Amino acid sequence: MTDPVSDRRTFAIISHPDAGKTTLTEKLLLSGGAIHLAGEVKARGANRRARSDWMKIEQQRGISVTSSVMTFERKGLTFNLLDTPGHEDFSEDTYRTLTAVDSAVMVIDAARGIEAQTRKLFEVCRLRDVPIITFVNKVDREGRDPFATLDEIADTLALDVVPMNWPVGLGGQHEGLWDFREQSLTRPDGSLHRLAGLDDPALEGLLSAERLEALREETELAAIGYPEFDVAEYRAGSQTPVFFGSALREYGVEALIEALASFAPPPRPQPATPRAVAPEEPNVAGFVFKVQANMNPQHRDRIAFMRICSGTFRRGMKLKQVQTGKAIAINSPIFFFAQDREIADTAFPGDIIGIPNHGVLRVGDTLTEGEAITFTGIPNFAPEILRRVRLLDPTKTKQLRTALNDMAEEGVTQLFKPMIGSQWIVGVVGQLQLEVLISRLQAEYNVAAEFEPAPYETARWISADDPATLKAFMEGKKAAMAEDRDGSPVYLARDAWELNYTAERTPAVRFTATRERS
Ligand code: G4P
Repeated sequence: MTDPVSDRRTFAIISHPDAGKTTLTEKLLLSGGAIHLAGEVKARGANRRARSDWMKIEQQRGISVTSSVMTFERKGLTFNLLDTPGHEDFSEDTYRTLTAVDSAVMVIDAARGIEAQTRKLFEVCRLRDVPIITFVNKVDREGRDPFATLDEIADTLALDVVPMNWPVGLGGQHEGLWDFREQSLTRPDGSLHRLAGLDDPALEGLLSAERLEALREETELAAIGYPEFDVAEYRAGSQTPVFFGSALREYGVEALIEALASFAPPPRPQPATPRAVAPEEPNVAGFVFKVQANMNPQHRDRIAFMRICSGTFRRGMKLKQVQTGKAIAINSPIFFFAQDREIADTAFPGDIIGIPNHGVLRVGDTLTEGEAITFTGIPNFAPEILRRVRLLDPTKTKQLRTALNDMAEEGVTQLFKPMIGSQWIVGVVGQLQLEVLISRLQAEYNVAAEFEPAPYETARWISADDPATLKAFMEGKKAAMAEDRDGSPVYLARDAWELNYTAERTPAVRFTATRERS
């Protein structure tokens, strides 16, 4: 295979904290030769995190707030692994990251099964029919019976599960992994034994009599109880192949990578208006799914992460930001190779490039060679927490406004300007973002601030078919009206009851909880 489109696998790992995402990431990168020492992902992470205060929060809480992109190559394929922040407070950011992948790996702890965050992230994948390969991690520890794990996945996620391998005992009794397709046994010491089947007498020398008998029984039951693997069903998102293994012991990981290489879909056509964009198209088109400010606090730089959806991108290209019509010359795009950031010369569909810019590019932006198309499905979500910001040093008003604008551009917080009054209101999806915001104001802008409650609890974008209706509503509710950063009108309600009440009384006005950049 030499076609750059079919050679790309752009994916994310979804999991509940502690299931083993970091460990697995490390092993995947190792397998691609991208890093040379186990432990480097964490060490690098720690170095990066030490750079600014807000990142201390993520260290303290042991969560990953920033999404990053890691590219590695293996056997002629290019893998782009997009890291998803693992904390529920960041579901908005995570959601957007998942708009930029073609498939996902779901990591489950063998002892814990499906946990809250796994489930939420899975739901996001399902919304977009993102195909999922499941990795049941930590078979070297005591865990649940494999049938219980498989049935839980099938029942709680309403997915067909297909075990691709089978653990020969768990924890202290673990003696290896049986691979159904290869008819092979991998032992905990890493040795691989190809066999003629489960009746091969050679197995008697490799497993204890007790475990061998159990393996024969269990695999027989599994063959009856679960469907055959069907790549089309997997790609449609209705079936998940399941691999058991141990990330820590780098065991079962090879089979997982092979599965990504052979079944996971290459870049798919992306939904857009007025038409979808196919990866084979010659002209470059892509969308910004994330903006990260101040990756280097000395430079106040801002990196927009763009997924290339079609065409061959070349350094120095001029692309049009469809939303504003501006032409942007992309002279120093960044590739996120796992070792370090590298300057990229070319990028293909499925690749992510980082575009340094000074606040021009925003989450949801479409970039093309000129055609007026916009990618869809990268929404802003109505904030669940609204706060006023109080400056502790009143001479810093200007710095505060710059900082709030910058943070809003990253798409992590939202900013609303009330029609009456001058105090801006910050909206976030989760509490942790507020803490991050305060730390970053201090660390990056030297602005000391705190939050005070806003008299509102919820916000909705409003629209109406008849502009006069909208205007009249806004006039009538002036005290509860604000604008978002794009100038779109937002209704602020004191609570859900007030929102419902208002919505029921004004059926001609639409109240929406998500908004796409247009
Ligand atoms: P996360 O990114 O999903 O939060 O999980 P992470 O990889 O950090 O793994 C969470 C803990 O589980 C770590 O232990 C890690 O070593 C352990 N772990 C990961 N994979 C396996 C496995 O296959 N088997 C076993 N037995 N443990 C595994 P920790 O003690 O919290 O951290 P550390 O001090 O070992 O780094």
